[in-house]
Amino acid sequence: MPGEHEAIENLLAESRTFPPPPAFAAEAVVSDPAIYDEATADLEGFWAKEATDFHWYREWDRVLNWEPPFAQWYLGATTNITYNCLDRHIEAGGGDKVAYHWVGEPGDERTITYAELHEDVCRAANVLERMGVGTGDRVAIYMPMIPEIVVAMLACARIGAPHTVVFGGFSAEALTDRVHDCEAKVIITADGGWRRGQVSDLKTAADQAFDNSPTVDLKLVVRRTGHEIQWNDDEDIWWHEAMEAAEATCEPVEVDSEHMLYLLYTSGTTGKPKGIKHTTGGYMVGTAVTHRWVFDIRPEDVYWCAADVGWVTGHSYIVYGPLLNHTTSVMYEGTPDYPDKDRWWDIIERHRVSILYCAPTAIRMFMKWGDAYPARHDMSSLRLLGSVGEPINPEAWMWYREHIGGDRCPIVDTWWQTETGTILLSPLPGITTTKPGSATFPLPGVAADVVDDAGNSVPLGHGGYLVLRKPWPAMLRGLYRDDERYRETYWTRFPGVYFAGDGAKRDEDGYFWLLGRVDDVMNVSGHRISTTEVESALVEHPAVAEAAVVGRNDPVTGQAVAAFVVLRAGVDGTQEMHGELRAHVAGLIGPFAKPKSIVFTPDLPKTRSGKIMRRLLRDISEDRQLGDITTLANADIMEAIAEQAAVSPED
Ligand code: WT7
Repeated sequence: MPGEHEAIENLLAESRTFPPPPAFAAEAVVSDPAIYDEATADLEGFWAKEATDFHWYREWDRVLNWEPPFAQWYLGATTNITYNCLDRHIEAGGGDKVAYHWVGEPGDERTITYAELHEDVCRAANVLERMGVGTGDRVAIYMPMIPEIVVAMLACARIGAPHTVVFGGFSAEALTDRVHDCEAKVIITADGGWRRGQVSDLKTAADQAFDNSPTVDLKLVVRRTGHEIQWNDDEDIWWHEAMEAAEATCEPVEVDSEHMLYLLYTSGTTGKPKGIKHTTGGYMVGTAVTHRWVFDIRPEDVYWCAADVGWVTGHSYIVYGPLLNHTTSVMYEGTPDYPDKDRWWDIIERHRVSILYCAPTAIRMFMKWGDAYPARHDMSSLRLLGSVGEPINPEAWMWYREHIGGDRCPIVDTWWQTETGTILLSPLPGITTTKPGSATFPLPGVAADVVDDAGNSVPLGHGGYLVLRKPWPAMLRGLYRDDERYRETYWTRFPGVYFAGDGAKRDEDGYFWLLGRVDDVMNVSGHRISTTEVESALVEHPAVAEAAVVGRNDPVTGQAVAAFVVLRAGVDGTQEMHGELRAHVAGLIGPFAKPKSIVFTPDLPKTRSGKIMRRLLRDISEDRQLGDITTLANADIMEAIAEQAAVSPED
């Protein structure tokens, strides 16, 4: 594991503890620690009880069917998640409550109530049906952070058409791959979105994906920026025109609890993204319950999850969880530094945000920008802070607590994955005493453990691999059309046990400390990227003969992409080539995957059997003493690479 020892040393030094403030604990949604024992004693009974708040057309016959590695939850039950997100609250008289305070980057704002959202979702569902989308058909969504992305997702769910949201930062190629894999019938997109004062175009990429995807019949296009775009009447439909013409009501389609709700692609250790499959009933119960517990959701809260809807955090904790809990959310389109570096704090002040959930990479960036920006604003409305996406270092945790949370807000560091669907490790803010940098404990009903290479639990005070020993309601149901890879990736390392791919340690008090990935997956600003994906992109460039990519520690982004490239004979490793390769990776995957550094080298370190020793490249990237090089076939190359690395530019 990269830097594992240092990380463990640092964490061992952390002795500060923060019990829940008594006033917070007294009012908390969950305040009785008995909930942990209750869930463990009768897992199925526990999840049956939690499911009763929802509307089911038909009750389940069995809570859980577990045939490892396949779980089914609420067997035989039928429901519709949008009925539970919208109609249920409206029928109870809550239609006028605000669902989203949406803030556009240029400063335009929209307030959308539950009743208005319901009407838009119904119209959009009717539009999709008119476009030929039926229950079970996949719909790709490639949009900026505008309210229509939520409407689009819910419209799909309303008619039982699984959505596949592709993050707007992905390139045309990456979009095309995903559209292909799921054989989408329609792409919902926008002309573009606003980012740092500029239009970020989406339509051109959607057109390219359309041209290369025989399964896609039509594109539905939201007008957001109004900039000039290619238009083809045979394939493009304006969202606003179709919405206006559509009926304002639409009966939800009754689907089975195990009906596929969505696919979300994520990087694994190979170049091909995995289509993570989530279904309806268990995901619904799981997202709602964890959202309520972890964020201590009360009716008067204004909650802001500052992730992008295109990632699982957005799916579970901007869209489904909050809506299921009848929560008022803030949603923001743009970057945190536009027009100035206090944009978030301004939004919190104006909308009286009470709960903020964001990523460590953002917190470290704010730290770098300085204390003055948050200090300009009255953020006394905040009462709880959350963190997600990567390990949060104790300094960032303390800064977050002091400068954003005014030393009074509990922090919930939440560990989970696209695969897990919901938060699995996190403090419960009214119960758990936190330690800066620790995700603390598994949530009630979550059987997390840390094991050694042989799969045995390690004693407290030791490190190993994070595993999950029992199924949970929102867990992935597999990889889209690839059961083999599903078994192979998660269930064979330790048979019958879910292997998360993360290193972890438990301290003497049983607290969990996450130590980063143990496989070839990087975490750059919370974006999950596989080293193989970037390597494949690099070698697709005609100038590149061979490439190796590693993630190296970065003070702001967590990890940064470090590339080592062997150029073809006759090609020079110039500054231009450096820029060209970066642009090439951005084109194939997306700008967030661009290597921060590229070292041109005549050869890569290899074992006698030809395996690239990335561990040594990581040592070089992080300025460490080289590890064992005795198995290298070409040990002398290391010196040359180290010299090159020392003089290579960084972006
Ligand atoms: C990977 C999953 C879960 C939504 C965002 C990322 C890392 C996530 C934490 C945390 C330490 C974390 C893990 C995990 N991770 N949260 N609180 N502490 N590491 O979802 O893209 O599926 O990535 O993110 O390495 O495996 P994802």
